[in-house]
Amino acid sequence: MEETSQQNKKVVYSAVQPSGNLTIGNYVGSIRNWIDMQDDYTCYFAIANMHAITVRQDPALLRRHTLELAALYIACGLDPEKCALYVQSMVPQHAELCWTLNTVTYVGEMQRMTQFKDKSAKHADNINMGLMDYPVLMAADILLYLADYVPVGADQTQHVEIARDIAIRFNNRFGETFRVPEALIVKQGAKIMSLQEPTKKMSKSDENINASVYLSDDKDTVIRKFKRAVTDSDNRIVASEEKPGVSNLLAIYCAFRGCTLEAAEKEFEGRGYGDFKLAVGETVADAIAPVQAEQKRLLVDKTYLNGVLKEGAERAFKTARRTLNKVYRKVGFYQGE
Ligand code: TYM
Repeated sequence: MEETSQQNKKVVYSAVQPSGNLTIGNYVGSIRNWIDMQDDYTCYFAIANMHAITVRQDPALLRRHTLELAALYIACGLDPEKCALYVQSMVPQHAELCWTLNTVTYVGEMQRMTQFKDKSAKHADNINMGLMDYPVLMAADILLYLADYVPVGADQTQHVEIARDIAIRFNNRFGETFRVPEALIVKQGAKIMSLQEPTKKMSKSDENINASVYLSDDKDTVIRKFKRAVTDSDNRIVASEEKPGVSNLLAIYCAFRGCTLEAAEKEFEGRGYGDFKLAVGETVADAIAPVQAEQKRLLVDKTYLNGVLKEGAERAFKTARRTLNKVYRKVGFYQGE
């Protein structure tokens, strides 16, 4: 990244948690959309391992998932020469800024966050402070790099909104410091639903493995999961609120095919669910196969991956340090003479 040519470019920031096998939702809702941004924006793409430990993780698995995610980012088309690709915990300013932002964030607003409420219900025996603080750490991620845009799935809109509120509040109290970021949500695939309970989001932490299609699933598994997907009994392939299962399959098909809903409905007019599910399964399996092959190839070369992550962290660190110094000055922290 040439320092001077970067200066006028808008900044993009996003991240994924290395908290399990990634789903096709993570792919079409976020990572895939980052690829085209690399040339036109200054991009930071992180592996949010500090967010991941807000629910219990096996340490060895967390480390492995971190490297797998780095390889996946590159396999999907991220170019480490063009963007800073790094691991969140390797840049200490994330935690440091989070602490400062905690003091301009209210407990009540965190308790009202949808994800906090959902995760508290799901992990009732582990409602830790980190879980409640999750959105503030996410705000710190975004604000440290003065990001203009945050490409995420629809479920993250509320978190980007709170990052905006925190930025505005800090700026009002201490003077212009942060840029107010904007969420970028794709038109197709912003919220892929579970194949088993299509009114619920597809999630990498779903206990029912048939509910999610993982980016690591082989072709047979992908096709089997789509075959078993919950639909309804009226056998019409159209999207509507009363048909969440079929609507979700159509949305997945469109996201992977790059076609409109109308075109997909027309294509499957008069055909049965069996045919339709097979077509969706094959489309998805064929699209993810090259990504899987490339990820596998990259994972063999740990030296390369370690190098990429080290360099990414160094780049991120430079910007993060600059912003944090400014924040510390603004809040009145003594920083030596
Ligand atoms: P995570 O790992 O839960 O999700 C990563 C990205 O995938 C999107 N996503 C989906 N998109 C469509 N359909 C789905 N079913 C689906 N499930 C997940 C999410 O919206 C997200 O974009 N908190 C973030 C990680 C993060 C972050 C950040 C993002 C940490 N710091 C700063 C942006 C900026 C998260 O949800 O990760």
